[in-house]
Amino acid sequence: MNILVTGGAGFIGSNFVRYFLEKYPAYSIINLDKLTYAGNLENLSDLQGEPRHRFVCGDIGDSDLVTQLSEECDAIIHFAAETHVDRSIVDPEAFIQTNVLGTHVLLEASRKHAHRLFLHISTDEVYGSCPEGDFTEDDRLNPSSPYSASKAGSDLLVASYHKTYGLPAIITRCSNNYGPFQFPEKLIPLMISNALENKPLPIYGDGLNIRDWLYVLDHCEAIDRVFHQGTAGEIYNIGAEGGKTNLDIVKFVLNTLEKPTSLIQYVKDRPAHDRRYAVNPKKIKDELGWQPQYSIETALEETIQWYCHHPDWWKRIKSGAYRHMYEKIYGASL
Ligand code: NAD
Ligand code: TYD
Repeated sequence: MNILVTGGAGFIGSNFVRYFLEKYPAYSIINLDKLTYAGNLENLSDLQGEPRHRFVCGDIGDSDLVTQLSEECDAIIHFAAETHVDRSIVDPEAFIQTNVLGTHVLLEASRKHAHRLFLHISTDEVYGSCPEGDFTEDDRLNPSSPYSASKAGSDLLVASYHKTYGLPAIITRCSNNYGPFQFPEKLIPLMISNALENKPLPIYGDGLNIRDWLYVLDHCEAIDRVFHQGTAGEIYNIGAEGGKTNLDIVKFVLNTLEKPTSLIQYVKDRPAHDRRYAVNPKKIKDELGWQPQYSIETALEETIQWYCHHPDWWKRIKSGAYRHMYEKIYGASL
């Protein structure tokens, strides 16, 4: 089988491409990625010379290119997106362009070529903040940021293509991921790398916002199950059912690295900052037999070690990529 993976040079996409090619020797992947600031071919350096992996640098919004690549493929797994909430607050346009319009271009190509599956990788953030309990797949979409609104928009488009044209499409909505190759603008790699450099660790607001962290390979396995056993037209929540406050995470990082808590610096809160995310993953567990394999304690410690052993990777990225944007929102320098 030949699969078009979009966004496979980013954090989750690159982990997924590696996982899938290793697990399925009969599969080939065309990896379409624009290499935005978040895309990095270094994330795929171990796949150099792998004949089943073909990298194409291009935009999912380029209809001619997408149509041409789709012709060679049996299915699409769609990761490509603008993904950082803070960036979406400063400059939402790219989020609408890629996440909404880019998804539409892919849907049209998938429909034209009668693909066997369009697997859309979405996020628990489309449900918005969850004051108590957890959200099931039937709960209403209530996004807070331009990022989550653009993902919700793309989810609705995907669902409409299933209903209107019978496109065999599935949506997954996963909680926050962590692991190797995550761009150091997101909480965990930012905190690890700042702590390693003895720089302040900026905590938004009171640090008591809750996220349900899932190790990236658990997410990859969930996508694998949905791809092979999921039902077209369905939505599957994916989560670890273990919320932690941002302060819990930051203190764990500091403790593991034997760094002082005095590095913590409270800064202005993010506008419309979702207090708590919580999804109910019962459906993927009961129907597809998925279970997370990694505990946050061991996998977060291993992730911290990965960043300790790959300083060149994150130092190259941090040398300028996100500073300007950060200062614009929070008025504080890193
Ligand atoms: P990322 O920002 O690390 O990577 C995104 C990738 O998409 C990059 O390689 C980038 O170059 C590429 N890309 C962006 N715009 C493109 C375009 N127009 N055309 C082609 N490629 C383009 O993102 P990630 O954290 O790996 O997230 C991947 C997907 O998973 C996203 O759809 C995101 O919404 C979803 N998701 C992420 C998380 C998380 O915690 N990171 C959780 C749930 C769902
Ligand atoms: P982030 O990794 O941006 O993911 P998301 O906002 O999509 O969940 O942020 C995770 C949490 O950490 C969120 O509550 C915002 C908070 N945060 C900080 O407190 N400081 C930071 O520097 C960053 C990047 C995030």
